[in-house]
Amino acid sequence: MKIAFFDTKDYDLPAFRKFGEAAGLEFKFYDTKLDEDTAGLARGYDGVCVFVNDRVSAAVVDSLHAYGVRVIALRCAGYNNVDLAACYGKIHVVRVPAYSPYAVAEHTMALLLTSIRRIHKAYNRTREFNFSLSGLTGFDLHGKTVGVVGTGKIGRIFIDICRGFGMRVIAYDKYPAKDSGIDYVSLDELFERSDVISLHCPLSEETYHLIGEDAINKCKKGVVILNTSRGALIDAEALLGGIKRRIVGAACLDVYEEESDIFFHDFSGHIVEDDTLARLISMPNVIVTSHQAFLTEEALTGIAETTVKNLTDFFSGAHLENELCYNCGKIEECRKGRKERCF
Ligand code: NAI
Repeated sequence: MKIAFFDTKDYDLPAFRKFGEAAGLEFKFYDTKLDEDTAGLARGYDGVCVFVNDRVSAAVVDSLHAYGVRVIALRCAGYNNVDLAACYGKIHVVRVPAYSPYAVAEHTMALLLTSIRRIHKAYNRTREFNFSLSGLTGFDLHGKTVGVVGTGKIGRIFIDICRGFGMRVIAYDKYPAKDSGIDYVSLDELFERSDVISLHCPLSEETYHLIGEDAINKCKKGVVILNTSRGALIDAEALLGGIKRRIVGAACLDVYEEESDIFFHDFSGHIVEDDTLARLISMPNVIVTSHQAFLTEEALTGIAETTVKNLTDFFSGAHLENELCYNCGKIEECRKGRKERCF
């Protein structure tokens, strides 16, 4: 079976070649992202493999369907970039629900510690033999309150890490986990009480700009906002406003609303056109990493292994454990209880 692989990065190749060859799948690796202009590259392929910034709109789905593509394999967990309703009845969609939730949770804590202990500034100073401590005062995490939005796989691991630091944990989830021992509060209470807020929920119509001006106005002065989930959970302009008004004490962003044409590329010799991102990066209390939280050896192996299994299961007619239901992908709302294929 032939699979067109979009938005290929160097780090994708070793694991996908290894697991793909072993399974008898033939991958064609394209650097370009999948969108309406590039969908034609999938002509003659049985499936496509896409990542977070490929845009699988209804028009792309229709093109892929017309070219004979039968399956879209997401090599990521989030699926906000795929029009699932448009796929229904035409193309099956599979994803990697978990690769290394530890990778993302640990990166979130790495960002938090870097930011509040000014490690990034100290690193630059000591490389220039500047051993001054001026301006490097941080604060203890011990005893502080962290508000976690989304208590799924990543959110829960992050909660465990925070508890290890002696932090008080409160959380908000649309579907609270029963008997988890997690102290759930309303979103407003979370904004009001948290010293640190970390986002681990999916992006949906409901969570779009979850952190906007209203939310920021409810936050404690000096709140640290962490986002390793999806960029559009935060209204970036409102975040900038909150930083300028000194409400937001620091922001650590692994994702950004308009990241798709910027992240994963080297713009070091160029002028970045996105003024909002440029202003965010210029702030002394903002740290940006470019959707790097997942990037560990363990996660890359897990992503390739599960994606290849999803594809071979699809082509062999086996049960599709990781199929996304057109309803929304949630087990409790799946009309078929995930026992059969979506259609
Ligand atoms: P998960 O599906 O295990 O957990 C998501 C949680 O969010 C669930 O508990 C769910 O009930 C909750 N939720 C759903 N709708 C909500 C709402 N409206 N308000 C509050 N909570 C809501 O997902 P997982 O694996 O923990 O991943 C979380 C997110 O992390 C993904 O959606 C993805 O966007 C992001 N991610 C980022 C990566 C990176 O490299 N930066 C890598 C992998 C995932």
